[in-house]
Amino acid sequence: MQPVTTLIERTGPLTFARFMELALYEETNGYYMKGAGLSRSHTSPIGMEGGDFFTAPCLSPLLARCLVRQLVEIDDCLGHPAVFHLVEMGPGNGTLLRDMLQECGERHAALLSRLACVLVERSPALRRHQQDTLSAWATHEGGIRWVDDVSRLSGDGLTGMLFSNELVDAFPVHRIRMERDGLRELYVTRRHGEFVEIAGEPSTPELALFLADLGVELPDGFTTEINLNAVRWIEQVARALDLGVVVTIDYGHTSRDYFSRERGNGTLMGYYRHRVSMNPYTLVGEQDLTAHVNFSSLARAGGQAGLTTTGLTNLMYFLMSMGIDDMVQDHDRESDTARAAAQLLRHHGMGTTFKVLIQHKGIEHPTLRGLRHRPFFESALTAAPEVPLQGGASVMRHAHCGGQ
Ligand SMILES: C[S@@+](CC[C@H](N)C(=O)[O-])C[C@H]1O[C@@H](n2cnc3c(N)ncnc32)[C@H](O)[C@@H]1O
Repeated sequence: MQPVTTLIERTGPLTFARFMELALYEETNGYYMKGAGLSRSHTSPIGMEGGDFFTAPCLSPLLARCLVRQLVEIDDCLGHPAVFHLVEMGPGNGTLLRDMLQECGERHAALLSRLACVLVERSPALRRHQQDTLSAWATHEGGIRWVDDVSRLSGDGLTGMLFSNELVDAFPVHRIRMERDGLRELYVTRRHGEFVEIAGEPSTPELALFLADLGVELPDGFTTEINLNAVRWIEQVARALDLGVVVTIDYGHTSRDYFSRERGNGTLMGYYRHRVSMNPYTLVGEQDLTAHVNFSSLARAGGQAGLTTTGLTNLMYFLMSMGIDDMVQDHDRESDTARAAAQLLRHHGMGTTFKVLIQHKGIEHPTLRGLRHRPFFESALTAAPEVPLQGGASVMRHAHCGGQ
């Protein structure tokens, strides 16, 4: 891909985070940015047909319906404000918000009219997709608008719910490796016309600080990702929210599990046409790149920025707590809805690899139904990893729900 190679030739090796940033978000050739100048009907990378991976909202409106049940409870906690900000960050095709608005329209008309919707989307091409998907809501009474970055909402004093599904895994990550002589960062360069990785001094002291803050000591040879963008993002989210709740859904782990032996080669992976790729250096700009989310880091950084952790659960417990079983009980076992529910709830699949982190601000200890069942003890988010054993790292990776 032109801009990456040109930049390496001009300026030398890039951090992996910079490489991933260009591969996914370079203005014209980045994976998520393509089609910015094309017609509205250009193909999105997300979807069962034609895309590279699919996500929970593509499967069925079940997640949307569960989130609306949670939204209603949060509205109760907030005392039914005259304007309830409903902010989706990284909305992809816009399907999740569309289905949530639809659900609100059918069951909670009074709440619907108070919803001021904001979509935070970096890609102009995907913003256009979202405008298409949500065209029926263009004149929504409470308003609907788009911004390109959550920092634009800073100081808006939002009251309501900010949420995302599979956003944080799409942020560019640094790659690091612990070597005998200390922490090294992996850089990307070119040799004989190919991309190659080289290890060097960390590009920023923030990488070592990130590990130290979480009490992580990596053994020799351990390679992993550090998502500094996730830290900055949750700080900005905290700044934008005055009163309410942040719901982050993504695949990932507490720090203890993130830095466990089985992930000793990291969690980075690519997606191309519903196939998993372990090589980020092929199909640059054509394949999606993603890394699992460290929820302990989000909870910690959010805490420092004014967000209190309400709780962490997994997708299966969240959906069950919100009553997904009554949503499917009248459907035939072979129906699309029942199949979608089975996929969302799958143990050793989406149901357990996906987590739901809820944080709040300005409310006294809300008791939320979605967190009724938690597979984690309260201390799990803050527990330091057990020092992983040397060597023998095997990789367990989990994908966007589609790809494998
Ligand atoms: C993996 S897709 C998930 C899409 C959607 N939430 C879903 O579940 O189908 C990631 C989305 O986040 C957007 N995105 C990535 N970085 C972003 C950022 N910093 N701010 C806003 N949106 C971003 C991408 O353009 C894309 O829409």
